[in-house]
Amino acid sequence: MMSDRARRKLLVANWKMHFVRAQALEYLRVFTERVRGVQKTEIVLAPPFTLLETVGRALHGTGIKLAAQDLFYEREGAFTGEISAIMLKDLGCAYVIVGHSERRRLLGETDEIINKKLRAALDAQIAAILCVGETLEERRAGRTHAVLETQMRGALAGLRLPSPSEGRGDGGEGECLVISYEPVWAIGTGVNAAPEEAEASALFIRELVAQLFNTEIAQRIRILYGGSVKPENFGGFVQQPNIDGALVGGASLDPEAFAQMAKIAERL
Ligand code: PGA
Repeated sequence: MMSDRARRKLLVANWKMHFVRAQALEYLRVFTERVRGVQKTEIVLAPPFTLLETVGRALHGTGIKLAAQDLFYEREGAFTGEISAIMLKDLGCAYVIVGHSERRRLLGETDEIINKKLRAALDAQIAAILCVGETLEERRAGRTHAVLETQMRGALAGLRLPSPSEGRGDGGEGECLVISYEPVWAIGTGVNAAPEEAEASALFIRELVAQLFNTEIAQRIRILYGGSVKPENFGGFVQQPNIDGALVGGASLDPEAFAQMAKIAERL
């Protein structure tokens, strides 16, 4: 069910904690040149907070969108070190990554916190890229889908998503939520999931979205795969009927490699 190739492909670079301004500008000089002519595929860059303004300015007029890697759920106040959705909006962020496994694992982010962050993003009309995925132990115990279901139900509890036709949200397709399936054991390890395995999880996620919301949202929502994606394996993922693109960490730090993926997506 529910494969709809009308969904626009989406490629997100998660730079994580890399680059200072000069490096980012050098990257963009190479990258924007290489992806000139890429139009069908939506490209998003998620630099660290410190680079959002610099990268945002440099991307002006390129069609490439800006994302933050995280946000805090309060609007403003005494929250030392935190960044609100309004601040991200002010810098031109169209997207924000929420619930990345590194934050869940290293910074104790729970589904409840993630739920609040999603609400904050939706309120500010920033499209959230929600990351979900199982650990190696959970996978070995055959609990992958159970874990995905718990994470999705927790993260999305009580959220009202406008239907895509309402066009609210600032994502490239006017949506306000993208889901990235990111098996924790595949992130930064060089061991990627098999495309068929990632597809099974993406389909599970899409069916769950239909249950939690409705079939229109489920048909339209874009689901990414993330975890050791590189030019050599990227095509295998985006060819799957329920995978609409990728969230790329390590390989996105090389502008040539990331541009190559954008071109592959464009051809498929
Ligand atoms: P990776 O990271 O591509 O370096 O595995 C992916 C991610 O964290 O989203």
